[in-house]
Amino acid sequence: MARAAIVLAAGLGTRMKSSRHKVLHEVCGKPMILHILDELARLRLDQVVVVVGQQGEAVTAVIGDRAETAYQAEQLGTGHATQVALPVLRGDVDTVVVLYGDAPLIRAETLERLLAEREGTGAAAVVLSAELDNPAGLGRVILAADGSVERVVEEKDASPAERQIRLVNTGVYAFRTADLADALSGLTNNNAQQEYYLTDTLAILRARGRLVRTLRVEDADEVASVNDRVQLAAVEAIARRRICERWMREGVTIVDPERTYIGADVRIGRDTVILPGTFLEGQTTVGERCVIGPHSRLTGAEVADGATIEYSVVRDSVVGPDASIGPYAYLRPGSRVGARVKIGDFVELKNATVGDDSKVSHLAYLGDAEVGRRVNVGCGVITVNYDGEQKHRTVVADDAFVGSNVNLVAPVVVGEGAYVCAGSTITDDVPADGFAIARSRQVTKPNYVKNWKQTRRRADGPDARRQVSLAGDSRSPE
Ligand code: UD1
Ligand code: CA
Repeated sequence: MARAAIVLAAGLGTRMKSSRHKVLHEVCGKPMILHILDELARLRLDQVVVVVGQQGEAVTAVIGDRAETAYQAEQLGTGHATQVALPVLRGDVDTVVVLYGDAPLIRAETLERLLAEREGTGAAAVVLSAELDNPAGLGRVILAADGSVERVVEEKDASPAERQIRLVNTGVYAFRTADLADALSGLTNNNAQQEYYLTDTLAILRARGRLVRTLRVEDADEVASVNDRVQLAAVEAIARRRICERWMREGVTIVDPERTYIGADVRIGRDTVILPGTFLEGQTTVGERCVIGPHSRLTGAEVADGATIEYSVVRDSVVGPDASIGPYAYLRPGSRVGARVKIGDFVELKNATVGDDSKVSHLAYLGDAEVGRRVNVGCGVITVNYDGEQKHRTVVADDAFVGSNVNLVAPVVVGEGAYVCAGSTITDDVPADGFAIARSRQVTKPNYVKNWKQTRRRADGPDARRQVSLAGDSRSPE
């Protein structure tokens, strides 16, 4: 008894007013179509077919090897789209779920119930329905006296009385494959939109004496669909809440779930605290006992246990255990920060490694750099990694000390245990345990200011005194 699913995703979704296909719009950072395919994967069906059409190549590229595709050249309606998928369907598929690519919140458990209902009752079709306070825009399910389904009427074709009905078609169905094929061949497009409606198969099956049932979805949020950007935001809000709830149940503290944005594929360890205004995106993983936020954005980050990240941005970078990032740090792609490292305020890292127990406490830029363990990088240190044409690497070995306001002009190596004096511009390698100072010597002139002021007073009289400027005056008192 093979089972399959057909996902309809050929229509562009004109109400989105987008150059991007509707099913490629993201919900919690993941294209809608992938939400559905990931959920279908949990069902372990024998086959999944996606019907593509407009922007078929873009949609197929996102689908990858998660499903087979069928091509609907012209969008003649949901019934026609389903028909296009039939030749691709394996011969032994007994029950097929049909659903739409614009409703990304459906759960595998609900689909399993729908399949079981179809198989258990021997019905030709089971349509998933929902009782809504506001059914506007959706097809209404008309029930027979015995509770079976008589037909589904689209809102555009419905009479005023039918529009009062609050039981809607969610656009999710389980069909006996043979009955579906049979009914599809009988479709016409004699309706307000001149389309071949999949929904009409239900009335056709009933007319042929077959049983059509409905199953009500427990949680109407699950079947929310996206036709425009307002609905996209509504679906996003539901998905966001769901993801936060999932992680809270797994032992993560989320102080304000309404202001926390966790992507669908993110993973978070126990006893981690997520503070408001935080975005965890892409394939980000956060370990246990971390504190992330407030107001931080992590994309493709790998954060080990016990790390803290405050008011910072981390992209495609690794943060080691018990490291402390921010406030106001920026870790750009390719950065790796070791255990117990401190990356403080206004520090930018790009493609830079900072070894265990090192400190970059404030106002520094490390680009294309390899910093060892137990290194102190002072305030205002800059790796001068770009000569206008090429990028060069800076290496600072273990236990080195780089004083404040140092320029490390790459390519350059500061050896193990070496000491670079504050204010130096380092252009030559510093050997291990060496000391480098590269700045002009200080000149100190005792009583310089006092003498200078006296000279001026004598020369110019009281009025000129008001205009005295030390820096701007070229005349020397000496
Ligand atoms: C559809 C249902 C409606 C239901 C609602 C639930 C029909 C006729 N109507 O309406 O009863 O309440 O969904 O959300 O089925 N598609 C194709 N090829 C086509 C036409 C559509 O692949 O030729 C795809 C679209 O890309 C979309 C899905 O089918 O993903 C649904 O089409 P859409 O136009 O959004 O249907 P609704 O008007 O929302
Ligand atoms: Ca729709």
